Order: sequence, then structure tokens, then C-alpha cells
Amino acid sequence: MQIITTKNALLEAVSTAKLQDKTIGFVPTMGALHDGHLTLVKRCVSENDLCFVSVFVNPTQFNDKNDLANYPRTVEADAALLESVGCKVMFVPNADEMYNADEMQKPFEFDFGGLDQVMEGRFRPGHFNGVVQVVSKLFKLVQPTRAYFGEKDFQQLAIIRRMVSVMKFPIEIVGCPIVREASGLALSSRNSLLTSEQRQRAVHISQVLKESQIFALETSVQELHDAVVAAINAREGLDVEYFEIVDGKTLQSIKKWEETDDVVGCITVYCGKIRLIDNIRYK
Ligand code: PAJ
Repeated sequence: MQIITTKNALLEAVSTAKLQDKTIGFVPTMGALHDGHLTLVKRCVSENDLCFVSVFVNPTQFNDKNDLANYPRTVEADAALLESVGCKVMFVPNADEMYNADEMQKPFEFDFGGLDQVMEGRFRPGHFNGVVQVVSKLFKLVQPTRAYFGEKDFQQLAIIRRMVSVMKFPIEIVGCPIVREASGLALSSRNSLLTSEQRQRAVHISQVLKESQIFALETSVQELHDAVVAAINAREGLDVEYFEIVDGKTLQSIKKWEETDDVVGCITVYCGKIRLIDNIRYK
């Protein structure tokens, strides 16, 4: 595996691959890799001639400086994991390589068609501007045939699909199911910041979501919403920031189950100071 830190070296690796008529699959990440990421990488390896992975803790998508400072960074372990699953190029730039001073300061402009006004966008203003900024830049550099994203970040996946369509990238976006621990807890780089007690508490989030699937459709959307929020908040140390039951395409909240055949419940919960996200499909 080649470890590349500059855009020029990356462009060289890409043009070599293109000259050899090889398909490139791409997995953008912020590192601190776990089995969730590795599932995407393994699928990418199996579906493309070459797999490229970026590891870059993108400063422009963090609206909270502490969150950026505390974000786990484990580049050496990441490199070993990527090599072990067949990744061919790991791109690990620093912020200066990715952005000039102007780009770091000005919010990246993009017409989200309303997808950024809800959920993560509402609670993390500017977050998706940073995501689209970095992913569009990476797409222009890597020029992959396919790019892999997890359904764990449900809203991000919807926004990337819109970005590809609006910016006319000839790239197939592959959505991959959420990878969970045996306990049900969705794997996340932020889980490493939880104490063992917090980790046990956090399991409650996915348990409540799973149970709610049983009652969904039998009870009203509002009742289900309130029951989920109450059940999670009832556990000491867990604090729901939002829970939205939305149309999976428009991401707008629904009032009645009959409104659409694509319904997902998206949640963000603070476990102490750590912000965890998860979601569940109802329809
Ligand atoms: P990061 O949080 O590192 O996630 C990288 C990719 O791994 C995302 O597509 C995410 O949805 C996926 N992923 C993370 N945990 C997962 C899990 N438990 N199951 C399935 N997929 C999972 O998302 C980002 O980085 C950044 O916003 C990025 C797209 C790289 C732009 O900076």
C-alpha cells in the first residue's frame, strides 16, 4: 500500500491507474478506523480494481472546536488496518495541503435543496458545507468510479447523493448498512471516547430503536417519537438531542405513516459529552 500525503502524488497515482484502465473505488474517512469503516473498505476492494481511502479529520465540518481537538487520531493503526484488507492507496493530507486560508474561513456554498435544514444541519450549522467541500475536493482528485458511504450517517449519504447529481460527478454512490457491535451499539470512532460505563449506557439507544420497530405503524408517528425520546432520556447519562421520523429521501419529518413508503428514524444522543448518532428504518 502506498501512503500519500500530497495532492500531486495522489494525482500521479490516479493517472497511473487510469492509464492502466483500472477502476478506482474510494472510501473517504476521518480515520480512527473500526469495523464499520473496514466493511466499506472491504466492499470497495472487492468491487474495484484499486481501492483508495482518505484519512483526513476535516476541520471545516466541525462546528465545535473541542470536538475537533478531541477527535481520535490513530493514523499508524489505520495504515496497518487498511493494508491488511487490501487498500492500495491511503491518502493522509494535512489541512494546509487540502485548503488555502480563504477556503478554511469562508463557508463552502452549495444548494442543499433543504436537506441541510433539518437534524444534523440544524444542530451543527455549517457542518454539511464542510462535508460537501471536502468530499467534492476529494472526488475531483481521486476521480473514482464508485465511492462508499455508510448509512449510519443517513443525512450525509442523502446529501452526497444530491451533491453528485447537482455537481454532475460521474460516480456511483454505494450506500452500506450500519455495522453494529454484538450489543447493537453502532460502531463509531467516537465510541473510543466513552468510558466503559458510558459504553454500556449507550447500548440502550439501539435497543430502544430496535424495540420501537415493533410498535411502529401500530401507533401514531407522534406517539412513537415521544415514546422513544422518553425511554432514552429515562436512562441516566443519556440525553436525546433530536429524534426525527423522516421521509428517507426528502429528510422532512412525517406526520402519518401513509405519507411515504420510505421512513427512517434518525437520532442523536449525548452520552455525557460524547455525541452519538444512530438511525433505524421503519418502512
Ligand atoms: P467518518 O465518520 O470517518 O466515516 C467514514 C465513513 O464510514 C462514512 O461514510 C460513515 O457513514 C461510515 N461509517 C462510520 N461508522 C459506520 C458504521 N458503524 N457502519 C457503517 N458505516 C459507518 O463520515 C465521515 O467520516 C466524514 O464526514 C467524511 C465523509 C469522511 C468527510 O469528511
